[in-house]
Amino acid sequence: MIRWGADVDIDSPDIAGAIARLVPCLREGGFDERSAARVLGARDIDDLLRRSALYALGSYGRVAELVRTSEGMLTHLFVRNGDVERHQYTSVLGRDLRVILETLDMVELGDRVRPTVSVSPHSGMYFLSDPLFSCVGERPVMNLNPDLVMPPHASSLVMRREVSGRGGRLLDVGTGSGFLALTMAADHESVTGIDINPRAVLFAKVNALVNGRAGDFRVAGFEDGLDGHDHVVFNAPGRPPRDRAGESGPFTAESIVRELGRTRLKAGALVQVLIIVPVPRGRPDIVAEWLDGRDHTVTEVDAPMFAIPATAIVKGRIPARCLLVDGPDDAGQVLRQLHGKGIDRVVPLLLSIRG
Ligand SMILES: C[S@@+](CC[C@H](N)C(=O)[O-])C[C@H]1O[C@@H](n2cnc3c(N)ncnc32)[C@H](O)[C@@H]1O
Repeated sequence: MIRWGADVDIDSPDIAGAIARLVPCLREGGFDERSAARVLGARDIDDLLRRSALYALGSYGRVAELVRTSEGMLTHLFVRNGDVERHQYTSVLGRDLRVILETLDMVELGDRVRPTVSVSPHSGMYFLSDPLFSCVGERPVMNLNPDLVMPPHASSLVMRREVSGRGGRLLDVGTGSGFLALTMAADHESVTGIDINPRAVLFAKVNALVNGRAGDFRVAGFEDGLDGHDHVVFNAPGRPPRDRAGESGPFTAESIVRELGRTRLKAGALVQVLIIVPVPRGRPDIVAEWLDGRDHTVTEVDAPMFAIPATAIVKGRIPARCLLVDGPDDAGQVLRQLHGKGIDRVVPLLLSIRG
């Protein structure tokens, strides 16, 4: 899969000019949240972004029809992450837009034109990110790069629904494409986004510029401190840990919550974290145990795609549409491990800690 980012110098005049003109040209091309959802037959943009791979797959037979209009072509390239013949690209998209896409390396040109980024329209803005999958060739191929910068997706939308602006200084931890920081920016005095992935920080900076929003984005981990901010939001990376080498990564729900429990906060600050927690049998207050007496509240979030109920673990069957596993083989392995470790259920929680 083509990677975007390394060669993009956002301070060069050519790139800055193309960044400033991207949104007006995408709009002129008819590409926005309504048209993208309509083109792919989704209820609305949230439904489309939440289940983008499914909609990409479902529209396989319609590609020839999609690429006849500019909104269909842009949806195909940047939401379906599909490729197109060069002559179609040239005849359907306006020259100004093509120059911008090419200046920003958003497409790779050959006999066929391939997208190098995803573009997700949401909240009147546009978010560039890595593609979560690509539809080049016969079937969608998932992007397995370890430093993948996620498009706004199911967990981003759940988190956005659960949090609202409180004024003051906002810190978006694990900012990714900058989605939470930028969609919440209007309700805060200032916005900072941090991420340990330098490519995420590049995408977030570009997205702030593309959408004309202010924001300070930099490479850092939440372990470096949260002090000085009034509101901290964190859509934490979270899937049930696997035992296969390299798959669980260093961050489990437990390690994130324990670290947050030790963190110094500004008086009156609020930290809100969306986290997926494996709850051991007989220990329903596991988050309180990890926080070791620190004052907090926990709310179970209504997001069935991030839950594995107790009955599923007992019966050995993952509910349809669960996003915590990658297909049947992985589901079997995850269920066996949850069962073996005495996990009763897996639940998405909104953890709030006050300074
Ligand atoms: C689930 S994604 C959320 C992305 C974005 N906030 C959203 O909602 O669309 C989690 C992000 O956290 C970042 N991350 C992982 N560990 C981190 C850490 N220790 N400190 C800061 N960011 C971290 C990852 O690189 C990733 O971009």
